[in-house]
Amino acid sequence: MAIEQPATRPGNPRFSSGPCAKPPAFDVTKLAGAPLGRSHRAAIGKDKLLAAIEGTREILGVPANYKIGIVPASDTGAVEMAMWNLLGARGAEMLAWESFGAGWVTDVVKQLKLDAAVKTADYGELVDLASVDFNNDVVFTWNGTTSGVRVPNGDWIPSDRDGLTICDATSAAFAQDLPWDKLDVTTFSWQKVLGGEAAHGMIILSPRAVERLESYTPTWPLPKIFRLTKGGKLIDGIFKGETINTPSMLAVEDYLLALDWARSVGGLDGLKARADANAQAIFNFCANRHWIANLATDPATRSNTSVCLKFTDHRIQDGAGFAKAIAKRLEAENIALDIGAYRDAPAGLRVWCGGTVETSDIEAMLPWLEWAFETEIAAQSAAA
Ligand SMILES: Cc1ncc(COP(=O)(O)O)c(C=O)c1O
Repeated sequence: MAIEQPATRPGNPRFSSGPCAKPPAFDVTKLAGAPLGRSHRAAIGKDKLLAAIEGTREILGVPANYKIGIVPASDTGAVEMAMWNLLGARGAEMLAWESFGAGWVTDVVKQLKLDAAVKTADYGELVDLASVDFNNDVVFTWNGTTSGVRVPNGDWIPSDRDGLTICDATSAAFAQDLPWDKLDVTTFSWQKVLGGEAAHGMIILSPRAVERLESYTPTWPLPKIFRLTKGGKLIDGIFKGETINTPSMLAVEDYLLALDWARSVGGLDGLKARADANAQAIFNFCANRHWIANLATDPATRSNTSVCLKFTDHRIQDGAGFAKAIAKRLEAENIALDIGAYRDAPAGLRVWCGGTVETSDIEAMLPWLEWAFETEIAAQSAAA
């Protein structure tokens, strides 16, 4: 017997964890002001790039004495640039509890060949933050996008540390509080919480990070695309919009539009409230069901952006196949696109809850998730 489909559908089925949904008010005609076919070094291009930097500062509350740069290759480019420029001056400690953090470990241990202290935790868990030695430079991911586990706050990072903190905050920035006094390098990309376009990364440097850049030269070569200093001095232009190489002015225009939208919903507080409401709708759903649960074991570490879910029903025979089938059913009905768990993560679902997603869409999607679950359980027993 077919299980009845819910009556209401989400207005927007886009729940991908990157690229993430465009802001609700998005319309491609709003990008008409992009200075296409003009040099990014012309005044109009430089003004737009500077506006992207200063808009970021305003909404994220980045202190005036921190430097913000637009860099190539999205968040990955920004993280790699930070590690290649800064690490090696003192010990390094790498913290990882999901796939992206694990990727940074590989780079530091296998590519830079540093004898780093590596602390890892399984998907759903967080490493023991109390054990971190801040005499070292510490590299970590604020919100683990592929496990839905985030650090609860920055209280575990001492203000008087000797090492630097390098934080991949790509799925946290614009959805969670980032304590700037605890972060020396912070990176994110436009394609995540604000629903911008991929390609460009942002790197935010504390005064101590700048001091390191100007006083330390790594032993390994640095390609032009990574170079932040010249003759031992920071290349200041990068932090005023004079990008290292050519940016997409269409992507810049799109980011400026996203920043405007962020202002219109109340800036960072508004964005956080939207993500919290989205995630809470899912948490409430899970709390009332025996068959689905958050992958993050400790509620204090549950992400409000990349909410990762696992199926817990004992009737499920093939966990990976079951989760894939659910995602496929929801995609086929145009209810939820791209919500399968990340390829390296445990079987399950991942639903993006950042501020560009409407809570009404999450609420409309959840009964369909129940429908897909019941339908799949029925299909499984019919096949048995
Ligand atoms: C935590 C984290 N780091 C890095 C990346 C890579 O980002 P990008 O593809 O924008 O370079 C992602 C993308 O999902 C991510 O979630």
